[in-house]
Amino acid sequence: MRTLIAYSTEHGATRDYAEALARELSGEVVLVNLRENPSPDASSFGQVVIGSAIYAGQAQKEVRDFCARNLDALRPKRLGLFICCWFQDQAERQLQAAFPPELLDSAVIKSALGGRINLGELSFFERLAAKVVGVKGNASRYSEESARRFAQALKTESSN
Ligand SMILES: Cc1cc2nc3c(=O)[nH]c(=O)nc-3n(C[C@H](O)[C@H](O)[C@H](O)COP(=O)(O)O)c2cc1C
Repeated sequence: MRTLIAYSTEHGATRDYAEALARELSGEVVLVNLRENPSPDASSFGQVVIGSAIYAGQAQKEVRDFCARNLDALRPKRLGLFICCWFQDQAERQLQAAFPPELLDSAVIKSALGGRINLGELSFFERLAAKVVGVKGNASRYSEESARRFAQALKTESSN
């Protein structure tokens, strides 16, 4: 089955998950950074994975726009949804807010994967915003193992 992995990232962790998933999935996999190509044609793919970094509680605009514009095309696909975020206590709420309910309902797998923070990579304003949301220092919850589990579930779980 052909798989489209469409994602958006600010600082790379979501891209690293997308690339890890691409390595784990079998068949042809096409990776699309929605910042570079906001409108990939989902119709020719049997399976679609959509991933977004979370900032200030929200999915990236490119991901929200892609889902909203392609709702009808995406709903019947074998669908995997993930967010990449830091706060574990807010992960489920952020996951539910990141994608339209129709896609969350029909997804084979949906997951909040752990992010990472490198203060040295952040702009002045991002560092200020990071302080406001309680991000205090460099740290990583990035996990290749969780990408492997996500890919495995996508391969084996049956659709809703
Ligand atoms: C300014 C800023 C705001 C953030 N806001 C949130 C947030 O609201 N919730 C959360 O769980 N993580 C938050 N994070 C953590 C990011 O989701 C995490 O760093 C993730 O790895 C970002 O993905 P990316 O590297 O693909 O951009 C924030 C990080 C920064 C720097």
